[in-house]
Amino acid sequence: MKIRTNFSLQTFNSFNVPVVTAEVLFPSTLKELAEISIEKAAKSYILGEGTNTLFCQENAPTIIKPSLMGIEVTESDEYFQVSAACAQNWHDLVVFCIDSGMYGLENLALIPGSVGAAPVQNIGAYGIEVSDFIERVTWFDFVQQKLISFTNAECQFGYRNSIFKQTLNGKGIITHVHFLLPKAWRAVDSYQGLNDLAFPITPQAIMAKVIQLRQAKLPEPKQLPNAGSFFKNPIINEDFFNALQQNYPQMPFYRQPNGEIKLAAGWLIEQAGLKGYRHEGVGVHENQALVIINYDSKHGQHIVALSAYIQEKIMAKFNIHLVPEVRFIGEDGELSIASTGCQ
Ligand code: EPU
Repeated sequence: MKIRTNFSLQTFNSFNVPVVTAEVLFPSTLKELAEISIEKAAKSYILGEGTNTLFCQENAPTIIKPSLMGIEVTESDEYFQVSAACAQNWHDLVVFCIDSGMYGLENLALIPGSVGAAPVQNIGAYGIEVSDFIERVTWFDFVQQKLISFTNAECQFGYRNSIFKQTLNGKGIITHVHFLLPKAWRAVDSYQGLNDLAFPITPQAIMAKVIQLRQAKLPEPKQLPNAGSFFKNPIINEDFFNALQQNYPQMPFYRQPNGEIKLAAGWLIEQAGLKGYRHEGVGVHENQALVIINYDSKHGQHIVALSAYIQEKIMAKFNIHLVPEVRFIGEDGELSIASTGCQ
């Protein structure tokens, strides 16, 4: 197995924070995964492409960066079944599917990151979530030292959430994700920006529009280091929403199937006057206030401090607690949000 020691992770995290790890392992086969001891795995952080990870301290823990590659396709009368290994790039998989006439993932084009990371936080955009198309996830369990298959229901998917982020966190690795793409394609084109596409609406047209929308709003991490949305959109109950709406009739909102209401964290941050705010080399993006940019800081702690400041302002103005979507990693592993001062 490829192993590197005393390794800089600067190009392995989209915030471009120059942390160093004592050791990084690159298992590229199931056999190599099985060579990692349970003790080592327990102390390690599993890194995909580092597009949703904030290294908060000067050093990082041992890193396991799975490097399994490959895509396999089978089909039945009604579905294409696409199985992709965890280290495949997410956007490349989307393009591969569309170019091969297998549709459904087009709304998720250009989301940064790897295939293996996609189910962990159930990536979503423009009206769909990846869980809408996942049939199963294959997982290598470090304790049992074997592969386990999780059905869609067993993955316990929620908004930016899954069992892999909760009870299974740090206990194994997603090796493959198995997608079920119906041959009877249905456009999901109700999201603002997609709802004015010219007829006939095609998967290619949706993908092109999604790419255009994302490029217009979301900064390219190589130019302006960032991790996409920093916070989750908050979900509140109807009574609180009704009271808030009296004061803010223009506030965007999305009713959830269970009656709760999702608000736009970017809008809240902009209303708090923080769009474009900068401090200590980090700041709130000028086009999309839900994105934090690392302009020229070498310290993840500056981003932690800015996120805590944003939370304070939003709490003071709206009495709403913003929860980070990004994961905070200290030198001994993942930090509970409480321990970052960013709860
Ligand atoms: N808005 C503002 N000011 C801002 C940002 C947004 O007023 O600075 C308003 C917009 O005008 C709009 C609403 O807030 O009315 C929602 O904004 P947008 O459509 O840009 O989406 P979002 O809720 O900010 C979510 C996802 C994105 C995903 C987009 C599109 C989360 C945390 N974020 O953002 O996902 O691309 O919808 O579906 O759910 C990510 O997770 O990294 C990510 C980029």
